[in-house]
Amino acid sequence: MKHLLGIETLSREEIERILETTQAMLEISQREVKRVPTLRGRTIINLFLEPSTRTRVSFEIAAKRLSADAINVSASGSSLSKAETLTDMAKNLVAMNADLLVVRDRTAGVPQMLAERVRAPVVNAGDGTHEHPTQALLDAFTIRQALGSLDGRRIAIVGDIAHSRVARSDIYAFTKLGAEVRVAGPPTMIPKGIEMMGVKPCHSMPEALDGADVVVMLRIQRERLAGALFPSVREYAATFGLGFQSLRYAKPNAIVLHPGPVNRGVEIAAEVADAEPSRILDQVTNGVAVRMAVLYLLTGNHS
Ligand code: CP
Repeated sequence: MKHLLGIETLSREEIERILETTQAMLEISQREVKRVPTLRGRTIINLFLEPSTRTRVSFEIAAKRLSADAINVSASGSSLSKAETLTDMAKNLVAMNADLLVVRDRTAGVPQMLAERVRAPVVNAGDGTHEHPTQALLDAFTIRQALGSLDGRRIAIVGDIAHSRVARSDIYAFTKLGAEVRVAGPPTMIPKGIEMMGVKPCHSMPEALDGADVVVMLRIQRERLAGALFPSVREYAATFGLGFQSLRYAKPNAIVLHPGPVNRGVEIAAEVADAEPSRILDQVTNGVAVRMAVLYLLTGNHS
């Protein structure tokens, strides 16, 4: 693996290797002194051209826990505002002997484009509606942590499937790891032909959650919605929001995931987000370990 641009091109074995490495990294994160010298002397540049809290901060913490130097660059205050191209800026950053570039951009394909043009490994931290591979890896890790394995598990992904890079990456990861995946949302939010990805489209919560071991709720992405894809937020919440009423359709011990940030009262009720079935904060904790694993596998000295 030279770059991590998406889950689509990874094999099950490659995903398993990252998840196994994540377990070791989680143990480091649980120590009193959460730092090892593994990547001492390496320089990681986090180029975030779209807002982020969890992904940006966790990549920075991940680099520091491995003793690498982490430099954060955002669009505001960069030379992009002086009409420098993104490629030129990335080449200049890598020319400072950066060892790895983490990239988030609102346009699909930007991490791939930079990977073809710069002399450093590139990690996709979310590109438009395309992929968010480290989110899918941390989601898969969180499910394994709770349930042991994804093999044969039924997973429902609910929300704006069409505009969600998390949904795409989750579908690739979960199906490669042996899960049965259902997707649900208003018809305007379910891409035509989604069955080709090996998932079952559903148009109601009872159908989607029936017998589910895991429910992944997606954020309604107001910033990506070009037009009104559902009549009102209130109607969306009543039809596809997750409350304890709708969670009854899933298995009694089903767990609930959400990539964040959460729109409380829209896609998920606050009482569910904060309750026992919710693994939302476990996802965040595991996100640091997943990103440590990815940085190590792409820049560390290992066989
Ligand atoms: N899940 C996720 O990508 O969150 P951020 O936008 O805060 O990074």
